[in-house]
This record gives sequence, C-alpha cells and structure tokens, in this order.
Amino acid sequence: MTDKTASVVAEDRILIIDFGSQVTQLIARRVRESGVYSEIHPFNAVTADFIKAFAPKGVILSGGPASVTAADTPRAPQDLFSMGLPVLGICYGQQTMVSQLGGSVEDPGHREFGRAFVDVTGDCVLFHGAWDLGAREQVWMSHGDRVESIPEGFRVVGTSEGCPFAAIADDERRFYGVQFHPEVAHTPHGAQLLRNFTHGVCGCGGDWTMAAFKEQAITKVRDQVGSGRVICGLSGGVDSSVVAALIHEAIGDQLVCVLVDHGMMRQGETDQVVKVFRDRFNITLVHRDASDLFLTKLDGVTDPEAKRKIIGATFIDVFEEEARKVGGADFLAQGTLYPDVIESVSFTGGPSVTIKSHHNVGGLPERMNMSLVEPLRELFKDEVRDLGRELGLPEEMVGRHPFPGPGLAIRIPGQPLTKDKLDILRKADAIYLEEIREAGLYDAIWQAFAVLLPVRTVGVMGDARSYDFALALRAVTSTDGMTADYYPFDHGFLGRVGNRIINEVKGVNRVVYDVTSKPPGTIEWE
Ligand code: XMP
Repeated sequence: MTDKTASVVAEDRILIIDFGSQVTQLIARRVRESGVYSEIHPFNAVTADFIKAFAPKGVILSGGPASVTAADTPRAPQDLFSMGLPVLGICYGQQTMVSQLGGSVEDPGHREFGRAFVDVTGDCVLFHGAWDLGAREQVWMSHGDRVESIPEGFRVVGTSEGCPFAAIADDERRFYGVQFHPEVAHTPHGAQLLRNFTHGVCGCGGDWTMAAFKEQAITKVRDQVGSGRVICGLSGGVDSSVVAALIHEAIGDQLVCVLVDHGMMRQGETDQVVKVFRDRFNITLVHRDASDLFLTKLDGVTDPEAKRKIIGATFIDVFEEEARKVGGADFLAQGTLYPDVIESVSFTGGPSVTIKSHHNVGGLPERMNMSLVEPLRELFKDEVRDLGRELGLPEEMVGRHPFPGPGLAIRIPGQPLTKDKLDILRKADAIYLEEIREAGLYDAIWQAFAVLLPVRTVGVMGDARSYDFALALRAVTSTDGMTADYYPFDHGFLGRVGNRIINEVKGVNRVVYDVTSKPPGTIEWE
C-alpha cells in the first residue's frame, strides 16, 4: 500500500517516481544517506495534484523494464515538466523525459548490461567533486533502448560506447538525464552524483537525521495514541526492539510489551531481551514461556511450511491470550518497515511463486481488531538500526543478524523437533557465533547459524565408537537477503569451530560447512 500523502514532516523532500526498476529502492537509500528524505511512489499513483501536495524539492524518475517506443507504456505526468521543479531521469526515466519533451528514443538492436565507461564531455553540476571534464568514469548500465536525439534546451555532457547521450543536462529548466544507474554500487561515484542533484540542483540542506526523525516520530505516536494503551509483541529482533523503545519514550507506561517465548530462540537471547527492556528501560513486559505448548503442537511435524503455519497460528493464540489478560489495549504496535510499504510496480501481473511463507504472524492485526501504530513505516533497515542507537539500545541488539520468526525450528530440518535437539543446536550455534565475534567477523556477515542435520554419523572418540548427529555451519554475505553468497572463512577458523563444537557439544560428532549461494539455494535450509 502506498501512502497518498507523506507522513513525516521533513522540510526537504525528494519524490521518486517508480517505473518498476529492480533497483528503485537504492535511489531512495542513496538520497536518504545524503541527509535528504525521499519517498518512492509508483508512476500510476502520481498525478500533478499529488506532486503539489507532496511538495518535493526535486523529482527523480526511476528506471524500468518497459520501452517508451511502445505507445501504452508508463510516462511521467506531463505537468511535471512545467512545475518549475528539478527533474533527474535515470535510464527509463531519462528516456521517458526525453520522449515527453520532444526528443527521440530508439532500440539500437543491442542491449548493454553491466560495467561501462562514460567519457565526460561537458561540465555539469551533477559531476562536481566527482567527475572531471575529459575523464573516463566507470558506471553500471542496464538497458535496451537509448536516446537518439535530445529535446531543445538540452546539451550532452557524457557519452559512452553504447550511448551517445549517456548524460544530458538542461541547466535552465534544471532537467538532467543519465542512461546509467548512479544508485548502484557499481557506479563508484554514483552517490556523489545523486547528492549533487539533491543538494546542488534542488538545494536540499541535509536535515534528514535520525535524531530529527526520533523527535518527529515521538510526537506522531503521542498524537495518534492520546491517552490510549498500546500493546507490542517483542521478539528481540531489531525492528520490534526499536518500536518498543521508541513508543516507550513517547508514551511511557501506556505501553505494554508481550514476549511470547516459543522456545526456539538462540542461547541467552530471551534473557537478554527481558533484562534490557524490563530492567534497563523499565518497560512493562509480560514474558510468557510457551515453549512446551509450541513443542506439543509441533510434535512429529517435519514439513517446513507446516512448521511455519503451526508456529504462526500458535503465536497468535498465545499473544491474544496474553493481550486479553493485559486488558483494554487500543493499539497494536508493529515493526513495519518502508520496503514492506512500497507498492511494487508489476508488469507481469500474476503472483510470484511462494518459496517460503515469511508472514509468521500474518492476520494478527485483523484478528485483534485494534488500530495499528507503525512508527517505522518510513524507514529502511539501516535507518532502523541508527534509530535504535539513538534510543540507546545496546549495539549487540541493533546490529544483530536477521533471525527468522520460526527460529531454530527451521534449523532442524527433516526430523521431529525435540527439546534435546533444540538444546544441542543452541549450544553449537552459540559456540559458532562466539568464535565469529571473537574473530571480528560478525559485521562482515549477513547471517551465520548452525543447522542440526537429520543424519547420524560414526565417529571415534577416546577409543570408543560414537554415533551422533552431523551439524552444518552456514554463513552468508548479502545486502537484502534476496541473493547471498557463502562467507569464505579460512580453513583455520572452520577447523577451530568444528573442533570446539565436537568437543563441547554432546550429541554432535561431525561438522560440515555449507558453500551454497542463493540462488540456487536459500539462506535457511528449510
Ligand atoms: P531464505 O531462507 O528464504 O531467507 O533465503 C531469506 C531471509 O528470510 C529469513 N527467513 C524467515 N524470516 N520467517 C521469517 O521471519 C520465516 O519463516 C523465514 N524463513 C526465512 C532468513 O533467515 C533470511 O534472513
């Protein structure tokens, strides 16, 4: 769902009109990293009135998979070009701007994907402090069509082998276009180019900071909640922790947190959450240990999707029960983030295949019949971490690796869950993470965990035969969890971890390392 109006008051704001590029979110991230608030809205939801109400300092048109050479493909609202606002068109955005202003776009018959080089042929405000006149600069391209002639008022400031109009400028109207993608990391100075647009062209000041956001968000929560009561499900993950800390700072004792302990958490995690929130933040926290109930419900279940459904449904039941005991809450707090809110533009129509159902507690808000408080709706994950730091949450909480809702239950694949197996996995996992932290590798890794395999292997320990579980270690690098690569530990590290686990964890006599990337694998084993 897309908000029809912006919900946070930031003086300087940039509107990003989305034409369906895979990397549109990165534009918003780069703009925000430069201290300027930005929002993404799909092209078909943006009218001239919308733009006026949004009141941006500038507009960025994203890339997209369509071709402007076809008549029925997306366009920017024509009025945008007579509103006096600066516009930056990226890839498809450049092409539609050119075409809407009287230039031409054609399919040259060959596509250009990946690394390319731009020759800087004109001085341009976009390049200041990054690209010099006459330089050859690396960029990332991904396009079929290209601009063949530019509208009146424009001049060419960059060319590449595949693109005579790789960068164009109309300084008077403050319209700029680039065929390449400045928002991706493979365009090394891309962030500076975007910053030059937001700060240099649009005149934004960079007032988007987490300290400023925190104050605004607190005011907003107070306005929304009034004297009502808010209930918040706390899992110990980054999002729910930040939501709880923020709402508590806004409304104090009107907030009650409920921690449903499903018994699938990592070692020491639940205790830490209780300690931090109850003892340090003085938040009213109901801690319900429901681990026996979850284990009973999961008895004999091995199918991954069945596990997720049972855990999700049981969680809702227990949460509801606890909420009823608390009594009289008017609002339910949720850690919805901006990527969940952005309405993605689909050109293919049909739904995508479900690989895993991640909506662990989907349906909770409808069932509970309460209004939602979602103070993180405007934030990306990195920003949520910054906000957590601003609120004084401990670093190990805000910097924590992602952890799936069903927890360790999906890390004991292909076998019935038991308390003993969970304990074995918990111990091994803790040793692995301890060694990773000790080696200073924690922050270089997206996620690291152990998987207890449904395989027993023969070993020899102290002259006796052993017949125990095999355990797999997994560690991946990623930026969003959508794609991932295995982490290349050195063999000394892996040997040390394997050795410690086999010596210290009774029940495991073999350790292997998973070297699968995603795709074709997934990050979790189930
Ligand atoms: P996969 O395994 O699909 O994981 O490559 C991508 C990211 O999602 C997490 N994950 C889940 N998170 N409930 C969650 O809340 C789930 O059922 C679930 N399954 C996977 C996974 O840990 C990784 O961060």
